[in-house]
Amino acid sequence: MDKTQAPKAHTNAIAAAATLAELEDLRIGLLGLNGSITQQLKELGQLPPEARKARGAELNQEKQQLSEALAARKATLEAAALAQRLATERVDITLPAASPTPLGKLHPLTAAKEDIASALKTLGFVHAFGPEVETDDFNFTKLNLPAHHPARQDQDTFYLTPWAELKETYVLRTQTSNVQIRTLLATQPPFRVMGIGRVYRRDYDLTHTPQFHQVEGMMVEAGTTFAHMAGVLSEFLRLFFGQQLKTRLRPHYFPFTEPSAEVDMQCLFCKGSGCKVCKNTGWLELLGCGMVHRNVLAVGGLDPEVTPGFAFGAGVERLAMLKYGVPDLRLFYESHGQFLRQFGQTPVAAA
Ligand code: DAH
Repeated sequence: MDKTQAPKAHTNAIAAAATLAELEDLRIGLLGLNGSITQQLKELGQLPPEARKARGAELNQEKQQLSEALAARKATLEAAALAQRLATERVDITLPAASPTPLGKLHPLTAAKEDIASALKTLGFVHAFGPEVETDDFNFTKLNLPAHHPARQDQDTFYLTPWAELKETYVLRTQTSNVQIRTLLATQPPFRVMGIGRVYRRDYDLTHTPQFHQVEGMMVEAGTTFAHMAGVLSEFLRLFFGQQLKTRLRPHYFPFTEPSAEVDMQCLFCKGSGCKVCKNTGWLELLGCGMVHRNVLAVGGLDPEVTPGFAFGAGVERLAMLKYGVPDLRLFYESHGQFLRQFGQTPVAAA
């Protein structure tokens, strides 16, 4: 090859290199340790001195030109590669972020309390408070259960150890009905209140735990009748269970209501034909209720002829077991991860 053409052929090859790898091969072939230019430079020493100088200058110029051509091509190829990467690896920042940890679930009792509150809120009830450590007076006496009333024995009570400074007997409330007394003392009718919370009884077996939950409701307003109560309770159950099932009222006795009743709902599982859950009766007992007793209304200075009302109470665990299909009451309190994964409820954003 004519030595004056060599740079042209090489620079053309360099300009035509399609990839960085190809370009690197060319560089090694020309300027690498054993490259053709390197080789020729090494051989300079063998030339006679007068030829060596001119040839040396020529080769160095060639080397310089090739280095520049290689650098220029390299810059072009790298820019193209970067442009290509930017185009294909573009990050779409509008995509939702991947969730690094799975979302937890609500304990079924928490979910039940929220669902109960939301159903009652729809019916116009607002939250009211009653303490878990309550006086015997508010837990029993003012609810028309004077000392020695036989119904006190239905609720095995935890009494707090009395000490000298206490003027009253204190108990762990056995029922959320103390919310009725607290409300009557603090609020003027008309009102609709709910109290959802813990209650305590000295009971422990397959179907009882010493601490459980109740929901209490109370509506006091001129013109309120037993029929309003039946309507509100059947609508409450429809909202809570998410389906319309028949309900019925069965006469019952509670000291704080007169007349009193229990509400049964057609069995969720067999729709009334009879199964294990409803013990073949076709009905599930869900609530206690009645028209607020005149002795209880009197706590708030109210007269049943002017501002009558109704009240109701139910066990939250029982409602949760039926709604979510939890087979054993004790599961609620054993904190097994498996139980929470199976029966936990996915939170619904509050409306
Ligand atoms: N307090 C009752 C209980 O623990 C439940 C109950 C029944 C509450 C009737 C009420 C009611 O407000 O009217 O068994």
